Amino acid sequence: MSLGAIKSGLPLAGVALRGCGSALPSQSLSNDQLSGRVDTSDEWIRSRTGIRRRRVLGAGEPLQGLAAAAGRAAIAHAGWSADSLDLVLVATSSPDDLFGMAPAVQAGIGADRAVAFDLTAACSGFLFALVTAAQYLRSGAMRRALVVGADQLSSWVDWDDRRTCVLFGDGAAAIAIEACEPEQDGLCGFRMRSDGRRGAVLQLPRQSGDEPLVAGARWQPGGFSPIHMNGQEVYKFAVRDVPALLRELLEETGTDAASVDWLVLHQANQRILDAVAERLGIPTDRALSNLAEYGNTSAATIPLMLDEAVRDGRIRSGHLIASAGFGAGLSWGAALMRWQGPGNVPA
Ligand code: ACO
Repeated sequence: MSLGAIKSGLPLAGVALRGCGSALPSQSLSNDQLSGRVDTSDEWIRSRTGIRRRRVLGAGEPLQGLAAAAGRAAIAHAGWSADSLDLVLVATSSPDDLFGMAPAVQAGIGADRAVAFDLTAACSGFLFALVTAAQYLRSGAMRRALVVGADQLSSWVDWDDRRTCVLFGDGAAAIAIEACEPEQDGLCGFRMRSDGRRGAVLQLPRQSGDEPLVAGARWQPGGFSPIHMNGQEVYKFAVRDVPALLRELLEETGTDAASVDWLVLHQANQRILDAVAERLGIPTDRALSNLAEYGNTSAATIPLMLDEAVRDGRIRSGHLIASAGFGAGLSWGAALMRWQGPGNVPA
């Protein structure tokens, strides 16, 4: 498929999901351990969120290393060489470098031919990045892309704020996608939304600073305040806007909810997962969940869940997956995908 094909009106390329991979910090922190730091309990956290433990990057474990390991696993799963990649797109809100972490991930993978850049959309980041990368493949501009979701929100929570610190964990996961014949298209549809008017309910805002610079000029020192969240408003947003968007997508693509094999939602809270599934009329046992082990790893949750379920054989080639990301911005997005990659083949 070439740009010439688009100009001549030939159908655009399809997008096939070919491989997945993930990488997690070795350090695991249980609810009981956290209750030694803040006034909380395993019972409170489990009953309100479904989370039992989370992984946290320790000293000497940079996020970019985790992201590169996830990327290497995904391209090995697809059976590709690193130099066949045209694009490495890293969804993250917590990069090791504010100028962008993707080039370091590209170098860590050895994807020397690929262009690499970051995309920031909080917990919608992976879904937005997947849709963005898919457009390069569809247009014929690129052939193979690696979409990585990686976040280290442990660096940005206030570990003394029990309302937020119990929710998040660190992780990285990736999906390898490539252009294919239009008839084999595995990205059946998508929808994306933003509403900056409601942004204040979930923020990791820049710290306001004001220092004298030289006579007659001042400057604003850099830095960020910890995550600030109105949990109840985020909850209401998630259980109202996310199923509405998924329903629109199912209608637009003529898809019956009964034909959806799996719901792979951003893993924020078990109660949100159950409520979204119920509102769509999808049995809750088809709404995949690994929150108990990892908490909310932000941009990593969707590919992390997908990777786990592909490798343990729940998601099989040909299965239809309805996915949705949602979070700060506010931002939310949904995609309908058909998995075409291998299952648990040795890397
Ligand atoms: N342990 C014990 N008590 C707690 C804790 C805790 N970890 N956190 C809050 N509480 C207390 C509060 O202080 C409050 O006590 P009070 O009544 O004495 O003041 C009480 O529990 C109830 O607090 P609420 O905030 O009303 O609790 P709620 O039932 O709403 O549950 C929760 C809070 C779990 C955060 C819920 O609102 C939620 O899941 N919201 C969605 C959050 C989310 O998913 N955020 C991530 C979005 S994705 C992204 O983009 C990053």
